[in-house]
Amino acid sequence: MVDYASLFSSNLPRSVATPPGAGDPVKYIFSITNAVPEVVDGDEYLAAIRTGLETNGAASLAGYPPPGGHVGLREMIAERLAANRGYEVSPGDVFISDGAGGAIAIILESFINPGDAVLVEEFTYMGSLRMMMERGAEPIHIACDDDGMLPDALEDALASLESSGRRAKFVWTIPVYQNPLGFTVSEGRRRAILEVAQKYGVPVMENESYADFRIDGDPLPQAMSGISDQGDVFYVSSFTKLLGCGLRVGFGVLPPGVQDALPQVNAENLPRRSVSHLATTMVYEYMRAHETEHIEAVRRALLARRDAMIDSLESNFPSFCEWTHPHGGMMMFVKLPERADTWSTLAKATARDVKYNPGGMFRSDRGRNNHLRLTYSHNSPEEIREGVARLAELFREEGYFEG
Ligand SMILES: Cc1ncc(COP(=O)(O)O)c(C=O)c1O
Repeated sequence: MVDYASLFSSNLPRSVATPPGAGDPVKYIFSITNAVPEVVDGDEYLAAIRTGLETNGAASLAGYPPPGGHVGLREMIAERLAANRGYEVSPGDVFISDGAGGAIAIILESFINPGDAVLVEEFTYMGSLRMMMERGAEPIHIACDDDGMLPDALEDALASLESSGRRAKFVWTIPVYQNPLGFTVSEGRRRAILEVAQKYGVPVMENESYADFRIDGDPLPQAMSGISDQGDVFYVSSFTKLLGCGLRVGFGVLPPGVQDALPQVNAENLPRRSVSHLATTMVYEYMRAHETEHIEAVRRALLARRDAMIDSLESNFPSFCEWTHPHGGMMMFVKLPERADTWSTLAKATARDVKYNPGGMFRSDRGRNNHLRLTYSHNSPEEIREGVARLAELFREEGYFEG
């Protein structure tokens, strides 16, 4: 028998605590931002692949994808960023990644040493947070209001790091339908955050994975990447939530000077970080043919599901609990009384076929577990009502609803 334990690399990611029950399969999936299953149209996806292969010849799959990924898709991304997000980039600045997560991994691998500080929102997307912690980074949570990070709190953290001879590697933000808090940062706050970051010479990492998911409410403000002219904003986003998480197609845009320095992204003829050309071809052809109707179908589905979730929270949870009312994205953030411990209750919820994310999964200290995130993209409105009722029953039994 080979003793594999003695062969593992010394660079394996550090382990990060996850709550018991997190891996359990369930029917009522309020824990993942899956694409809306009903809008994944297999026939149209097959037609898009057929069109792509007929246009380019099936032999286009014989070689590796071009450096940076599918050229047409990068042009489309540049056009969409200019039209939808007020962000002008050349297609050559865009690189295709295996989901937004792939672009985030490249950025973290390229910049983070153990002990590096990254300034993140009070609660932040658990996937990036986990990658930071696995690399030994020190995520520092910045207090937020309904408009994102508080510039004063951000400045205090940057000044405190500076006074101990440290400079944060990133101000890391999800300014559109923030995961998990749901807010969208206004233009004024975007400018204030940029100004503070610039004062301390720290780049901003802008994750706009939810920019295509406006349900109602005001149009989105311009992307921070478009507002700044300092070349100090990194941008990542994805097609996964729109077309299917299984496709693993996302992208990143790096500031000038960074892309050339990163062999992972730029290397000619190196297949090591490239993304399936078949998947990117499909995404490109499908988006060309169906973008507008697809986004509208997703919007309508999310509207019904969000309203079903708000409605079932109102009917099943006591009014002293609080929850967000998001105008886009796929999730709500719920606050229970202080004594609630959603981390330890998760396994009991999965035993009832319901899964959520405890608040602690969005924090490096794994604390604040009187919160939970509920996503509404996966289940139908009827299922959402049933799942929320089951959750309420459990929380009532746990004594979380006692006044
Ligand atoms: C804010 C945010 N960024 C990135 C990701 C990862 O997306 P992808 O599946 O494109 O890697 C997610 C998925 O939940 C997310 O919520």
